[in-house]
Amino acid sequence: MSDAELVAAAISAMSHAYAPYSSFYVGAAIRDENGQIHSGANVENAAYPQGACAEVGAISAMIMAGGRKIDAIAVAGKGDVLCTPCGGCRQRIREFAEAATPIIIADETGERARFTLAEILPHSFGPDNLR
Ligand code: THU
Repeated sequence: MSDAELVAAAISAMSHAYAPYSSFYVGAAIRDENGQIHSGANVENAAYPQGACAEVGAISAMIMAGGRKIDAIAVAGKGDVLCTPCGGCRQRIREFAEAATPIIIADETGERARFTLAEILPHSFGPDNLR
């Protein structure tokens, strides 16, 4: 699946978000090492800290399908400010990605920017530290 299709999957996932408190709908889509796509949306909770980011759902879907590497990830959210992954999600992505893995940022109209994981999470701690 192409990067454009990956972005389309993230935009489509956005519409599934459960975000009654922030009204900020986020979708994420991962292409794994087998070319399979896994998507997720943010799921909020009345006990606010229990809410989950879109990336959490997409990573969980990848793991459940047997994927173990993020080849690329797209995150989609509306607004003028780029919907980049939060700090916690950068670390979650790090677990299954490499320095050069593309993080594609989109809004409802399509791709707006792209970064490598190393650009948004430099000098990161990861599985290699524990080997
Ligand atoms: N959100 C995500 O789903 N992913 C991110 O990386 C940034 C923030 C969600 C969490 C919450 O439901 C809403 O956006 C507002 O913070």
